[in-house]
Order: sequence, then C-alpha cells, then structure tokens
Amino acid sequence: MTYGATQQEMVSALQWYIDHGVTECLGDTPVNRFEIPAVVPAFAPVQTQSMEKRPLQEASQTFLGKSDAYDEAIKLAKQATSLEELAQIIAEFDGVALKKTASNMVFSDGFAQADIMIIGEAPAADEDRVGKPFVGASGQLLDRILKCIDLDRTAEEPKQSVYITNVLNWRPPGNRTPSQSEIEVSLPFIERHIQLAQPKILVLCGGVPAKALLGKSDGISRLRKKWHDYVPQTKGIGNAETPIPAIVTYHPENLLRTPVQKRLVWEDMLSLRKRHVSL
Ligand code: URA
Repeated sequence: MTYGATQQEMVSALQWYIDHGVTECLGDTPVNRFEIPAVVPAFAPVQTQSMEKRPLQEASQTFLGKSDAYDEAIKLAKQATSLEELAQIIAEFDGVALKKTASNMVFSDGFAQADIMIIGEAPAADEDRVGKPFVGASGQLLDRILKCIDLDRTAEEPKQSVYITNVLNWRPPGNRTPSQSEIEVSLPFIERHIQLAQPKILVLCGGVPAKALLGKSDGISRLRKKWHDYVPQTKGIGNAETPIPAIVTYHPENLLRTPVQKRLVWEDMLSLRKRHVSL
C-alpha cells in the first residue's frame, strides 16, 4: 500500500533526511502510526528537535547567509586578542546554524601553551554533552596513543602536554560530516585559534582538518607520511611568513572502525615524536 507515494519515494525521502542529519522526528502531539490516514503526503515536513526550540522562520532571520557569515567570522576572529575572547566570540556568533541544534559549544582542552596542538573535525555526542573535545571513545583512544609517546593532555608543561580542539565548535546533528560551508565559516576561527595558541607543531586528525587547514583536496592517504608547512588560508589571520610544521594522521574514530590502521598511526606518532624532541 502506497498512500500516494511509492515505497521507493518514501525510502528516498527518508534517506534525504538522514543525509541531512535529521536523527529524530518530533511533533507537539503523539502520532498514532497504526491509524490509516486518508492521504499520506510523501514529503511531509519533518520537525527536528532544533526547530522545536525555535521556529524555522525566526531562525532564518537570525542566522546569516553563507558569504555574510564568512565575512563576519573573519571580522570577529580578528578582534579576539586572547583564547578566552575567541571562545566568547564563537559562542555568540550566529553564522553557523549548527549552534541551534548543539547542546554546548566545544572550544578546547589540554594545555594552551603546549608545543603540540591537535585538531580534529567536530564534536560528537559526548563532546557536545560535556563541552570538551575528544572525551568520548575516540578521545580515550587518542589519550592512549599520546601516552605511548609520553604526551598527556592533563600535563602542564609545554613538552609533555598537548592542546586539543576541532575545526568546528558545534556538533553536526547525527555526527554527520560537516558541510563545505560549515567548514568555510569555521575556518577563520580555527585559524585565529592557532594564531593565538602559537603551537610549534600541528597534528591534523582526519581528512576534514587536513584539507581545510592545508588547503588541499587530496585524500588523507596522500597527505600522510610527510611534513607540511601550515600557512593560514584566511586573509589577514596568522602569519604566512612563519609556517608551522603539520603532520596528518588518521582520526582515532577511524581506528575504532578499522583497527588495522593503528600501525600507520603509530608510524605517524614516531615521526611526531622525532620532530618534537628535536625542537
Ligand atoms: N571527533 C572529533 O573530530 N572531535 C571530537 O572532539 C570528537 C570526535
């Protein structure tokens, strides 16, 4: 029975919602799914949790368009003169719509004066709940990996600690991959974050931070196994004359799914340690 839409159309509509990060369908009143309605609209609007918090019309008035948001992000990022100010500016910025669906902003963890700054993709569910990066299963794996090369985010000494953040400060719904425009609008903030933290080495975990910060379109397997010179992509942010050495490695989330890649990450960690001790 199709009620006006074919099964294929209904499956396609559902897949479309999933691809766009809709993980829950909420309404104001309970729905009896066993009741057969006269007509089932094939593409009935799905109400998400976020829309329940604030009507869509109001949201679209508040949140900025893509290029306006990017320009505004650059302007605001440049104004931050400390990490605290940057965190405050990001928290108040309405140009990334993910803010509407996230529970907490995720800024950083670890020791801000550490030699090494680790940059992941975006907060997942645990990070969104706690408000700190890499605190879930992949974060625990990251901590164990770092321990093997004598690094510890809780240490308060530049040589032994690490400073950790993500390209995005808000969780994409359903942990979907961030869109190109979400990455683009977040770039001025992460680049200012790097500039203010002044790390000596960058560790880029996964394809999203590697491509965004190195301005490359190559896949991660081509970006690994060599040292890159990180220079800021955003005009007016950072110092292009003093590049920061950057290494690309697999994201710990990948290792949870594909443990065989641990061997490759170990090679990356040995290269990182060699470079770090020689600083
Ligand atoms: N994945 C990331 O890229 N960052 C986090 O903080 C958690 C999971």
